[in-house]
Amino acid sequence: MTEASLIITIPINWESAFLSVALPGGAAIVLASCPENNGEVMKQLRLIACVSLLTGAIVALSGQAAQAATVRYEAESGSCTGTIDSNHAGFSGSGFCNGTNAVGAGVQWTVTAPVSGAASIAIRYANGTTTARTAQVQVNGSTVTTLQFAGTGAWTTWTTATVNLNLNAGNHTVRLNPTTANGLANIDFIDVTTGGGNPQPPGGLVGWATQGGGTTGGGSASPTTVNSASALTSALSSSSAAVIRVSGTISCSGMLRVASNKSILGNSGATIAGCGLNVSEASNVIIRNISFRDWNDDAINVQYSTRVWIDHNSFTNGTDGAVDIKRSSDFVTVSWNRVFGHDKSMLLGHSDDNAGEDVGHLRVTYHHNWFDGSNQRHPRVRFGNPVHVYNNLYSSVGGYGVASTEGAGVLVEGNYFENTDDPYHLGEGDSGPGTLVARNNVFVNSPTGQAGGSVASIPYQYTVENPNNVKASVTAGAGAGRISV
Ligand code: GCU
Ligand code: CA
Repeated sequence: MTEASLIITIPINWESAFLSVALPGGAAIVLASCPENNGEVMKQLRLIACVSLLTGAIVALSGQAAQAATVRYEAESGSCTGTIDSNHAGFSGSGFCNGTNAVGAGVQWTVTAPVSGAASIAIRYANGTTTARTAQVQVNGSTVTTLQFAGTGAWTTWTTATVNLNLNAGNHTVRLNPTTANGLANIDFIDVTTGGGNPQPPGGLVGWATQGGGTTGGGSASPTTVNSASALTSALSSSSAAVIRVSGTISCSGMLRVASNKSILGNSGATIAGCGLNVSEASNVIIRNISFRDWNDDAINVQYSTRVWIDHNSFTNGTDGAVDIKRSSDFVTVSWNRVFGHDKSMLLGHSDDNAGEDVGHLRVTYHHNWFDGSNQRHPRVRFGNPVHVYNNLYSSVGGYGVASTEGAGVLVEGNYFENTDDPYHLGEGDSGPGTLVARNNVFVNSPTGQAGGSVASIPYQYTVENPNNVKASVTAGAGAGRISV
């Protein structure tokens, strides 16, 4: 039992001798007795409360939870391309947005985040058809994720879909943008919760995965530990946000599909042998501290996916790519990984024929990776611009380092190339050239590469380490087993 003193100002019109006050963090204050009130509407009371507090509740008052706030934005106060209707019961406020049934006929609001941090957008909707309606959730014009608004059985049956993301302090345009001719589901409101804590996961996420809403994976979900292929497969497919801890060596084959909002974290020594992870039509995925070996397709494939962070993993002796990213994927950071004893490292864009899906996307940052005697594709880039390759270590790379092709734009800076005959070049195989800007790289027993043209500017903050120090920092830090997560 802790005694605390507080002043509260509340509208008063109670008869009861008891008052309870809910606190952030789940604690509650219950006043054992309250003075009689005289009917005033507002009254300031000084109260000595006998408070049964769970451990940490007072801390919660001054900590991050105290800042968490939810604000409702009704459809009728936003901008709806369609009509605000009220003919289907169960909505809140004065109506809902019945969007015109067409591609792009969306609804949007200006949302204010009082503080930077983890945030969520809960979207209340009804879809009285039997076909899911597909819409992008866009923040300031970037697609954070694409949601399927499943049929709810009736236009009067409302349900909620939630997106997790980071929001910086300030105003943001949040838009639900339908991508098919069916248009939007009917939209009642969005509840935006902000101030949920550190805007980035620990460990220093930098680069493209900080953009488009940022990448938090499973966030603070309580972890599930898996040590078999079947348990891993099932945890990866969950539709809920999840933190999945991989323990021991998991033997498997083929590709295991990863759904949205997942952190896949290796315990010390965690190994995935024989198979790979397929991040497909997903967003907000983190993969850290895992050794991949002997995969029979790709170790990690990212397609039709956004907001992915692949960090501190090791890759050896697989069949196809170690980390392949393709098919309009966007906002990805690949950091502090080690590839050794392997041929095809990192493909970005799979086909010269895929410009329609890929131009304007495939924005990826590769930093502090150790290409340790691996052969080719570090990365091999089609279409993406700007792709950012900085502070990587290329040691005895046999084939080539970076290739910029098919109109891609790649910024190659602060890398350390040693015993690497072909550090970077334009075009590759049948693929036509892209552009490449090289600066501040170090070459040891390696020629300078082929650069040319200009590259779009990098939108995020980052610090380039002195390239002369990159060999030491990357050999000490890259790969699985160098961090504990
Ligand atoms: C019906 C329904 C609308 C809904 C529309 C649709 O007309 O009454 O509320 O928006 O179908 O299919 O989008
Ligand atoms: Ca409609």
